[in-house]
Amino acid sequence: MSVASLSARAASVPPAAPLTDWIAAHQARFERFVHGCLPAEEREPPRLHAAMRYAVLNGGKRVRPALVYAAGEFSSATDAALDPIAAAIEFVHAYSLVHDDMPCMDDDVLRRGKPTVHVAFDEATAMLTGDALQAEAFMVLANAPVAADTCVTLIRELAQAAGTQGMCGGQAIDLAAVGRPMNAAELETMHRMKTGALLRASVTMGAAAGRVTAIERVALERYADAIGLAFQIVDDLLDTVATSAELGKTAGKDLRQSKPTYVSVLGIEAARRWAERLRHEAHDALSTLGTEAHPRTVRLRQLADLIVQRRS
Ligand code: IPE
Ligand code: IPE
Ligand code: MG
Ligand code: MG
Ligand code: MG
Repeated sequence: MSVASLSARAASVPPAAPLTDWIAAHQARFERFVHGCLPAEEREPPRLHAAMRYAVLNGGKRVRPALVYAAGEFSSATDAALDPIAAAIEFVHAYSLVHDDMPCMDDDVLRRGKPTVHVAFDEATAMLTGDALQAEAFMVLANAPVAADTCVTLIRELAQAAGTQGMCGGQAIDLAAVGRPMNAAELETMHRMKTGALLRASVTMGAAAGRVTAIERVALERYADAIGLAFQIVDDLLDTVATSAELGKTAGKDLRQSKPTYVSVLGIEAARRWAERLRHEAHDALSTLGTEAHPRTVRLRQLADLIVQRRS
C-alpha cells in the first residue's frame, strides 16, 4: 500500500469521540502500515522474514504507536509522517521483547498469547529477528516523509532511547540485578531506562514530526517521563495481580526469577500509589498547556489514564 493511499484514509476522529474509537481507528491504520512495510515472507530469507512478521503482527497493545499519534495530534503532524515513527518505535519494542524472552534473559515461552519467537522458531532466528527489526526501524525512519533535519532528530532520539542510556542499558541493569537487593532510586533508574525511554521517545518523536514551542516540548517531556515510569510500575503490578490468560504472557515470573520490581521493593499498595501519583504528574504537565478539555491534549490525557488503569 502506498503512503499516498494511506494518507487518504487518515484516522481523523473528533476529540469528543470515545478513546476506544480513536484507538481502533489509529490501530487499524498502524496495522495496515506495518503490514506493508515489513519484508514479505516470500522474500529470501523466508524464515527470518516470517519470524519478524510473527514478532510484530501478533496483537500487541500498540501503546507506543498510540502515543506517537496522540503527540502528533498535539503538534499537528501529518499521519503520513507519524506512521513510520510509530512503526520504528514498535519495531524496536518488538525486538526488545523477542530478546527479553530468550533463555539468556527472562526465558519465557508465552508472549501476546502465543509461543515466544525462540519457541515458535529457534534461538538463532530469535536473535536475528531482534537484530533485523532494529535495522528495519532505522530504515523506516530514514525513509520517513519529513524534512532532512527532522529525520536526523528522529533517528537520534530513537538511537538514544534504544541504546545504553535507554532500553539496552536498562535491560543490562535488570539482568545484573537478579537476586540482588535494589533501593528505590536504583529501581527507578532501571525502569526509566529499560521501558520509560522508549515510551518517552514515542511522545517526543511524535511531537517532533510537527511543530511545538520550547515550552510545549518541556511539558511534553515531563508528561512522557511520568507515563514512561508508570508503565513499568504497572507492568510489575500486573505480573503479580493478573493471570497469564489476561496478560498473554507468563504471570508471576518476576518473583520466581527474583527480579527487583516496584512490587518486591515497595509492595503492591505503595506501587499502586506511586503509579497513581505519576498519572497525576502527567496530567499536571499537560495542564500547563491548557484546560483538561483542550482538544490537543485530550488523547494524551486519556492515554495516561489507560496506561495506569490498564488490566493487561
Ligand atoms: C511489555 O510491553 C514490556 C514492557 C516494556 C513492560 P507492553 O505491555 O507494551 O507489551 P505489548 O506490546 O502490549 O505486547
Ligand atoms: C521488559 O521488562 C522491558 C523490555 C525492555 C523488554 P519485563 O521483562 O518486565 O517485560 P515483560 O514483563 O517480560 O513483558
Ligand atoms: Mg525482562
Ligand atoms: Mg520479561
Ligand atoms: Mg514484566
